[in-house]
Amino acid sequence: MKQLKLTGFVIFLFFLTESLTLSTKPQDVDDVSITKKFIEENVGYITIIIFAQYIQEASFEEVEMLVKTMTEYRDKCLADMTLPECSELANDVLLENICALEGLPQKHNFSHCCSKVDLEKKLCFFHHKKADVGFLPPLPTLDPEEKCQTYKNNRESFLNNYIYEVSRRNPFVFAPTLLTVAARFEEMTKTCCEEQDKANCFRTKAEPVIQYLKASSSFQKNVCGALIKFGLQVLEFINVAILSQKFPKIEFKELTSLLEDVSSKYHGCCEGDAVQCIRGRSKVMSHICLKQDSISSKIKECCEKKIPERGECIISSNKDDRPKDLSLREAKFTESENVCEERDANQTSFMAEFLYEYSRRHPELSTPELLRIAGVYEDLLKECCHTENPPDCYRHAEHRFNETTEKSLKIVQRECERSQNLGKEDLKYYYLIKLTKIAPQLSTEELTFLGKEMVTALTTCCTLSEEFACVDNLMDLVLGELCGINENRNINPDVDHCCKTNFAFRRSCFEGLEADKAYVPPSTFQGLFTFHTDLCQAHKEELQRKKDRFLVNVVKLKPDIPDAELRSLLTDFTNVVVKCCQAEGPEACFNEEGPKVAAKC
Ligand SMILES: *[C@@H]1O[C@H](CO)[C@@H](O)[C@H](O)[C@H]1NC(C)=O
Ligand SMILES: *[C@@H]1O[C@H](CO)[C@@H](O)[C@H](O)[C@H]1NC(C)=O
Ligand SMILES: *[C@@H]1O[C@H](CO)[C@@H](O)[C@H](O)[C@H]1NC(C)=O
Repeated sequence: MKQLKLTGFVIFLFFLTESLTLSTKPQDVDDVSITKKFIEENVGYITIIIFAQYIQEASFEEVEMLVKTMTEYRDKCLADMTLPECSELANDVLLENICALEGLPQKHNFSHCCSKVDLEKKLCFFHHKKADVGFLPPLPTLDPEEKCQTYKNNRESFLNNYIYEVSRRNPFVFAPTLLTVAARFEEMTKTCCEEQDKANCFRTKAEPVIQYLKASSSFQKNVCGALIKFGLQVLEFINVAILSQKFPKIEFKELTSLLEDVSSKYHGCCEGDAVQCIRGRSKVMSHICLKQDSISSKIKECCEKKIPERGECIISSNKDDRPKDLSLREAKFTESENVCEERDANQTSFMAEFLYEYSRRHPELSTPELLRIAGVYEDLLKECCHTENPPDCYRHAEHRFNETTEKSLKIVQRECERSQNLGKEDLKYYYLIKLTKIAPQLSTEELTFLGKEMVTALTTCCTLSEEFACVDNLMDLVLGELCGINENRNINPDVDHCCKTNFAFRRSCFEGLEADKAYVPPSTFQGLFTFHTDLCQAHKEELQRKKDRFLVNVVKLKPDIPDAELRSLLTDFTNVVVKCCQAEGPEACFNEEGPKVAAKC
């Protein structure tokens, strides 16, 4: 991030051990020291990200206090790096300092974390993160003129505040992504503050940044959820599928060595250790760029960029072309005589290699679909390797793969047809009702968010040439959000079962779900049918939001109510708003009409 001049950060020991074990080539040394420098220069931001993600309730003033503490720590260590406290890991130092802020652990209820040590402590803070940020006010929006003035007067505090506000609302987003968002935000601010029509400029330029943040957040949460719920192996398989599709040229051996770096990166990033995350990411990207020639032809420009843009650029780069000499089928796994022996030698690496060979040949499939096929193959071998003539049995594997894919294709086609038949608005209501029925325990905020995401997935993907992979990937991400990362939440046990049983087949598990039978609705819903004049002042989007929330809350209150009646209640809602906002005394009108709607329900 070239324009970000912030104070330094010191992680001597960390740096030292890593440079000793890692760097054999001059370029490597270069990358490690560039990363170190980057971390040093961005200590303020990194401190804010870690603190605001762990303790989302903390005020900006409290966060600023910690930044000051960490800066002093840095200065002390820069002056004398032999001080004992200077050899600790950066994240540990930070957590200690958070705990040492007077009165804060009690105020924000995390004292129990402070009495723990090492990994336990880190995990305790991790579990303190709340995915549902409904307890925070919406992101404050300043008037554009005011924004530009603040930026001009105090750039650092302005940007700090922005990172703080974004981080606490996105507690699971990886630090490099947040830093990229901050850099783009500053770029946007610079450009737009020069413009005549500032408001319009901010609106247009903010949109892609928000989309980028949302997409990254959704993906990262999903992968971390998989790591936490299913462990390292599922994480590795996800990465095998993604990397093999993206880099079909890579050799399996090279992929295996890359995977080690990728997996260790996710540990740091998912736990919220921003420093380790940045280093891990940087290591992966150096690895990829160093071996570019044997990995991909599509990343040359990315590799010329700096941290953190380099990583973000590689992640969003296109899939490389399939090597010309790559046959459409890999016979080794279905036609060889000794498949079972090879599998038994090392199941994990055998399955990874299968997934690699299948994924690099099938850029048109989604990640979950590739994992499903690996699952089908694994099950088939379990069966076949017990028979008298295994080769005869697994010879038909490809047929099974095709069946699996056809089944998934049909589901996607059905979803896309529904999307086209219903149109955007009705499609949203469809999902709001469906999601609320299966998971009525989720907050209204979460449910409306998930419903909208479903609609975005379908309206974005259906009719695209890569329709299948797009829909399947995105819808799976929405389910990943629904399943959550770190919470053991009180949710429909059937939903919980789908979330925890099999990552690859999560979506088909959800297909079969029905309304939560054990759910006991609240006896009343305070204020649900009490409408107010604020509805008349609400902008179109705001009104729509209220309508969505109304629908979700009605379903929470009356989960058995037929869909047709729900639709009619929605129409009533709209009619009441139109009627009362035109009436002489809107409030009196609402008081009269509200109970009428309630009576119908
Ligand atoms: C504080 O945290 C403890 C332990 O996690 C929890 O039992 C308690 O309900 C929390 N109190 C508040 C006010 O959130
Ligand atoms: C199997 O292969 C994986 C990956 O190559 C390796 O990490 C693991 O130690 C091997 N397991 C056995 C039992 O050899
Ligand atoms: C599986 O599907 C692929 C692609 O549609 C096709 O080329 C292949 O012949 C099919 N194989 C079998 C055994 O059905």
